[in-house]
Amino acid sequence: MAKKIRLDKLLGHMGCGSRSDIKKWAKAGLVTVNGVVIKDNGFQVDHEVDEVRLDGNVIAYREYVYIMLHKPPGVISATEDSRDQTVVDLLPDELRAFDPFPVGRLDKDTEGLLLLTNDGKLSHELLSPRKHVPKTYYAVVRGEVTAEDGQAFATGVTLDDGYVTKPAQLVILEHLCGSEELHSRIELTITEGKFHQVKRMFASVGKQVTYLKRLTMGTLRLDEQLPIGAWRELTVEELEQLRGSRE
Ligand code: URA
Repeated sequence: MAKKIRLDKLLGHMGCGSRSDIKKWAKAGLVTVNGVVIKDNGFQVDHEVDEVRLDGNVIAYREYVYIMLHKPPGVISATEDSRDQTVVDLLPDELRAFDPFPVGRLDKDTEGLLLLTNDGKLSHELLSPRKHVPKTYYAVVRGEVTAEDGQAFATGVTLDDGYVTKPAQLVILEHLCGSEELHSRIELTITEGKFHQVKRMFASVGKQVTYLKRLTMGTLRLDEQLPIGAWRELTVEELEQLRGSRE
């Protein structure tokens, strides 16, 4: 079936410019479809077969974007907000033109891996409770995290609202005995995404998370070369593997 889309929508989606720019350029005869100048912005094109050019340059259409963001603290996992900076605010206009949204949420103070996309189907499947997509977090926890905590998490702990968590895997990396109080460095893998889940799981065993960073989601791992606050598009391999991890 033909995939028809308005010409101005296609150019806008590809981050070519604002609606008014695109209108101006079309009027000036800079936009062609299959070699024919088109001045009507509402002209319908089939993005799979029609060749669209702007000022002589071919505009290759793509529908979806998949972005890995190294989320910094202090930024909220939303597309817009009247007070705070959002994760979408960290992206350039060319990517924002695709209307990406975060796949799930990280708390304002949580750092690390956040996937943004405009692919609602993939997002839905990665977040579906039925898919049990694993997510690994690195955390610093006040106090001594013990093997008993690990056993409790492996069986399931009761959160403050009575919810019993699904089995989770705890790895204790190190106990830090600084000049002040003892802290523990750990990794925790969970397969669900309740509100503040990691913090509330530790609260259920009487401990407080003081630093939290997400490392993985399904097969996707935070690229440690990506500085905090930076983003990059997923590689073809990462995307293929991620699609596999929801099946
Ligand atoms: N668990 C939390 O407590 N916070 C997050 O941001 C993610 C998981």
